[in-house]
Amino acid sequence: MKRIAQLIVIALVLLSCSKDKQIASTDVKSETVKKAEIETKITNILAKMTLKEKAGQMLNIGLPAILKGGYWEPKDSADFNKDKFKKFIVDYAIGSIHNTPGFIPEKEVWYQIVKTIQDSAMQKSRLGIPILYGIDNIHGANYVNGSVMFPHQIAVAATWNTELSRIGGEITSYESRAASLPWNFNPNADVATNPLWGRIGESFGEDPYLISEMTNAYIQGSQEKGLENSTSTAVCVKHFVGYGAGRNGKDRANAIIPENSLRQYFLPPFEKAVKGGAMGIMISSNAVNGIPCHLNTYYITDILKGEMDYKGVVISDFSDVEFLVEAHASAKDKREATKLAVNSGIDLLMNPYDIDVVDFIVELVETGEISIERVNDAVTRILRLKFYLNLFETPYNNPNEYPEFGSEKHIAANYKTASEAITLLKNKNEILPLSSTKKILVTGYAANSINMLNGAWSRSFLGRETKYNDPTKLTILDAVKKQVGAKNVEFVAGTDYLDDINSDVAVSKTKNADYIVVCVGEIPASEKPSDINELDLPKIQQELVKKLAKTGKPIILVLVQGRPRIIKDIEPLVDGILMAYLPGQEGGRAISDIIFGDVNPSGKLPYTYPKYTGNILPYYYKKADIRDISWGYDGFYPQFEFGFGLSYTTFEYSNLSIDKDTLSNSEEFKVSVTVENTGDRAGNEAVEVFVKDVVATVSPDAKKLIRFNKINLKAGEAKTVEFKLTTKDLESIGIDNNWVIEPGEFEILVGGNPQELLKHKIYYKN
Ligand code: BGC
Repeated sequence: MKRIAQLIVIALVLLSCSKDKQIASTDVKSETVKKAEIETKITNILAKMTLKEKAGQMLNIGLPAILKGGYWEPKDSADFNKDKFKKFIVDYAIGSIHNTPGFIPEKEVWYQIVKTIQDSAMQKSRLGIPILYGIDNIHGANYVNGSVMFPHQIAVAATWNTELSRIGGEITSYESRAASLPWNFNPNADVATNPLWGRIGESFGEDPYLISEMTNAYIQGSQEKGLENSTSTAVCVKHFVGYGAGRNGKDRANAIIPENSLRQYFLPPFEKAVKGGAMGIMISSNAVNGIPCHLNTYYITDILKGEMDYKGVVISDFSDVEFLVEAHASAKDKREATKLAVNSGIDLLMNPYDIDVVDFIVELVETGEISIERVNDAVTRILRLKFYLNLFETPYNNPNEYPEFGSEKHIAANYKTASEAITLLKNKNEILPLSSTKKILVTGYAANSINMLNGAWSRSFLGRETKYNDPTKLTILDAVKKQVGAKNVEFVAGTDYLDDINSDVAVSKTKNADYIVVCVGEIPASEKPSDINELDLPKIQQELVKKLAKTGKPIILVLVQGRPRIIKDIEPLVDGILMAYLPGQEGGRAISDIIFGDVNPSGKLPYTYPKYTGNILPYYYKKADIRDISWGYDGFYPQFEFGFGLSYTTFEYSNLSIDKDTLSNSEEFKVSVTVENTGDRAGNEAVEVFVKDVVATVSPDAKKLIRFNKINLKAGEAKTVEFKLTTKDLESIGIDNNWVIEPGEFEILVGGNPQELLKHKIYYKN
């Protein structure tokens, strides 16, 4: 009887499995059929389009170009300029719009704006093609008033928790779509190799693998329900390629990237994004090896559209066609620049102010300088994305159908991301967490500012306006007061970004304080306004710390900054250091909860924190970078290493084992390690796995991150963590610029602290 029952169960399971398979294959089939139908629709539309209509689709303007008033004039309502509106939307039937109207609309106002545009585009233009609206909602739907604003990407990377990146993408999409904004100019997949660069805060840091995983997770969060879903947005991954590597550390500067570095470090995040379904990629505004990316056919057509088989839209960055003339001196005028950009493979030109590029494209096709095939390819990609997003059926979304917009659930996800990101870099004599019964002096430029926590792209481009600040959000000062009671907290700003305000008053107030929490950091900035000439934390902020240190009172230093500003002179003067990055709207709360121990910190640095301006290297430096170490000339002397971050508990690693000693061809292998929480409170720990090729013709990197996993351990708990790897993880770019594994010895390095990694050797044989 038992046997018969067992057989029935097995039969039912098999039946349900085959049903699942059937459903899955029907899904795949219908997906393929749907895509084929879309391609047919595109062919049909293309057949009806005039050259001018095709060229019109290739233009992306900024919204203010069709509003009353000057482009950059601040506005408080979106009043359309009737003539311009008709010319751009109806007569030229342009393909795409981006940017805010010059103020930050609520989702209902966005709806009205987008509806007005779409209704005209679809009802009054000859072919009725909807507009593709793009926006920089880069840390939450920051350009929709009332949305949650997450930590910037650098902080998300510091969580080492890809699920938080995924959730960030999902919530950002939901809150963007609530405002009828279907295309997001995010995530940022730049590999930030120069700490001077001002947009590090917007990137996932210096490591190609961490960037790839975080980028992919964000894409899945944004798109995994299907682009046609009214809570999804299409991503636009940026900036292709080498934007984070400007040689002088300035924004949009020339980068020197040899082919082997391009392939080893800079392309992998984009490859992963393309495989993950990205349908938008933005070109970098800089030049690489002197070649502006906006005319680089090799990068765009050969590598991106060719090798990577990318089928989505390639969009130029802001004004970058004219910048080929003005910023790069690579084209003599805008007509020539348009030709170079389109012929390099760019499909959509973000030409914010004018229609001129459309007329140039028409003329260039007529003279044979751009082929009609190139234009057809561009328009096909643009229409494809519009169909995938279902814009022909749903050109805008009802803002009332998004009950979770700005909800407690979204705020909780935001808080969790901030609290998993903040990184404890120093904790002398376990000074942290502080007791909440003590008296605290809170001081420093970043102590009482929501704008500094949010950074740039926060309601306004530079994020410096205060009028949009949500009064319910807490600064660090507010949160500390809430924690220990206002009567136990004194606040003195001490300094501004670059100027002393009242540092002496701050010093005098230390008398009554048990602890000093000094919050320093950067003025919110992005792009060119974020350029700096010195990496040191501004002198005046360092002076404040030095003066406070003379009082002998214990100091907790909180760093609110996207970049790692050099702090070598003040680091020895303080007892605790928290790197807060740009932690977003819930950052004040999260910082305070870590300071007073409600949250156990678990962030780890997603970049190398340099100590000296003359010793700036990513953690994957080459041996020659630190040669002559025995003579004491050079070495690798960061302030804090990539992957470093402390906890209020301790973790011990043991039993590192690998199931195979020798590998060959394409093989899988498993690495396992036991991690034990040896302290007395629960904690999260990011387990990091690196590989080091011991000898290779192309000098091997010091090490390379190949896996990570963030786990939670109760006090006293031990877990065995297993990683599945393949021989692919051992590959690096060889002498002929292809991925290779040269036979020989490799080290697998595993741990949670880059200075205490466990090591295991393996061998690769041909
Ligand atoms: C930035 C991009 C951004 C674009 C549109 C550019 O200046 O470099 O990151 O997506 O503007 O706002």
